[in-house]
Amino acid sequence: MKIKECLSLGVACLKEVTPIPQKETMLLLGECLDKEMSWIVSHSDDIILNEWFYSALKRRANHEPLEYILGCASFYDREFAVDSRVLIPRPETEILVDKAVLLAKDLSKQAHIVEIGCGSGIVSIMLALMLPDVKITAVDISSDALHVSQKNALKHGVYERISFIQGSYLDGVNEPIDMIVSNPPYIAKDEPLGKGLAFEPSLALFGGEKGDEMLCHIIDLFMSQKVKMLVCEMGYDQKLPLQEYCIQHGLKPTFYKDLAGLDRGFFIQEKR
Ligand SMILES: C[S@@+](CC[C@H](N)C(=O)[O-])C[C@H]1O[C@@H](n2cnc3c(N)ncnc32)[C@H](O)[C@@H]1O
Repeated sequence: MKIKECLSLGVACLKEVTPIPQKETMLLLGECLDKEMSWIVSHSDDIILNEWFYSALKRRANHEPLEYILGCASFYDREFAVDSRVLIPRPETEILVDKAVLLAKDLSKQAHIVEIGCGSGIVSIMLALMLPDVKITAVDISSDALHVSQKNALKHGVYERISFIQGSYLDGVNEPIDMIVSNPPYIAKDEPLGKGLAFEPSLALFGGEKGDEMLCHIIDLFMSQKVKMLVCEMGYDQKLPLQEYCIQHGLKPTFYKDLAGLDRGFFIQEKR
């Protein structure tokens, strides 16, 4: 089949799945031919036979996220390896990293930051790159996710800077903590998922019956471990219950919004 025929086939297969079927088809073609988009455009009459392209197109037509098919996703303009063992990085999580970096300026240079639920490692890795002196511990309950985050830490040259721990919450973290950062699972147990989300690991999505249970437990740990700062991402509709929970415990959270103007996270600072 000629490349231009592959493009037409891709657009026809993907037009109900994505608003950018042509771009996605080009990305799939680029991946299977190992070529840039400009090469694909200028070689549209070349004939190719590539089984990977057809199977990738089928997977995408079945709503599997493009990032899993390509095996990578971008975050802060960097490429991270992803597969079905980890959540696909979301652009709003860059705000979580920005807040943590800003808050860390009030800590000592060698502060100890712990990420609960590191997944693909995007948050811990960006913190290691942006805060060159801090000590970072990245915890995840999933050993599969830790394999991905360690691979990404190696790729971005910060493997030696991060201690990876397989455990729940702060299990295995024995040193005093200055800051906890987390983008934990925060979807309610019975919430129906969109077609793309169904491909992501349920361990990374569901936070309990109401969805905010893990966030509340992290707030409990922040208090009991006498941590100075906590920065968390949350669901757009979780500000009220979390605000109430914090106030009940004498804490004063500051909430922040994402680029769409939705409530998306909070941070708490305590003088210890
Ligand atoms: C929403 S994902 C976030 C991943 C990554 N930090 C990001 O922002 O893309 C949540 C992660 O928390 C992990 N997780 C779930 N329960 C956990 C627990 N009890 N303790 C530690 N990690 C947990 C999941 O395996 C998943 O990798």
